[in-house]
Amino acid sequence: MKILSNPKELLTSLKELKGSIGFVPTMGALHQGHLSLIKKSVMENDHTIVSIFVNPTQFLPNEDLSTYPRRLEADIKLCSLAKVSLLFTPSYEDLYFEDEVTLCAPSKLGYVLEGFSRPSHFDGVLRVIMKLFNLVKPTRAYFGKKDAQQLKIVEKMVNDLFLNIEIIPCEIIRDEEGLALSSRNAYLSNEEKKDALKISKALELASKEVVKGNKDIKKIEELMGKTLAPLKVEYAKVLRRDFTALNELEIGNSIILICAHVGSTRLIDNIWI
Ligand code: PAF
Repeated sequence: MKILSNPKELLTSLKELKGSIGFVPTMGALHQGHLSLIKKSVMENDHTIVSIFVNPTQFLPNEDLSTYPRRLEADIKLCSLAKVSLLFTPSYEDLYFEDEVTLCAPSKLGYVLEGFSRPSHFDGVLRVIMKLFNLVKPTRAYFGKKDAQQLKIVEKMVNDLFLNIEIIPCEIIRDEEGLALSSRNAYLSNEEKKDALKISKALELASKEVVKGNKDIKKIEELMGKTLAPLKVEYAKVLRRDFTALNELEIGNSIILICAHVGSTRLIDNIWI
């Protein structure tokens, strides 16, 4: 496995690669969720490129940029074992320029839910993803469904800017108790991990309601609110898969999303109905 951090070296190296390229952009601290994306890419492409870059432009000033877990040594081992062809680990200075041309998240989809609590977050995500897409020029790029809104916005960027990249949504990976895997789970104490299980429990109860035939969004949202108490809930919502409001739940076109704080850790999770 090659490891490069310089964009020019990456471009030169890519000239030698023949065949399809699968790309998995990450911020490192790799877990089984990332590995499932990498495995899928390795299966579906001639080459797999993984990037590790904790992107400052997608963090708000009060967020966890400085404490975000960084485990490069372990990540390199995992990527190598997973048969990644090339690992790209740029620095901020490698990727960003003074007074540069930037991208903006869509003014509706980019400013609800995650974008409401974290305005400018998706601007930063699109900025870095566009740079990485232009460098790697992947055939396919793999994104986890846990960051459902990010996935939708990246799909929209690919569509709106006529990029020739197939975006592959990948299933959420959970631990044995149901907690959706996230690099931020590393912040949770054992006690907090138990509290965090309320999130997947609330989603499970909501989906059970749907199976019973309940399509009443208010009732489902109330049930989730009760299950999540006493966590600080930012949202527990049933929406259309394009993130617009629904009158009643539509099977095959709905998504149920939760964002809740467990101690000082902000966690998100969802299920697609
Ligand atoms: O989902 C993430 O880890 C990040 O938002 C991404 C896609 C790597 C962009 O920095």
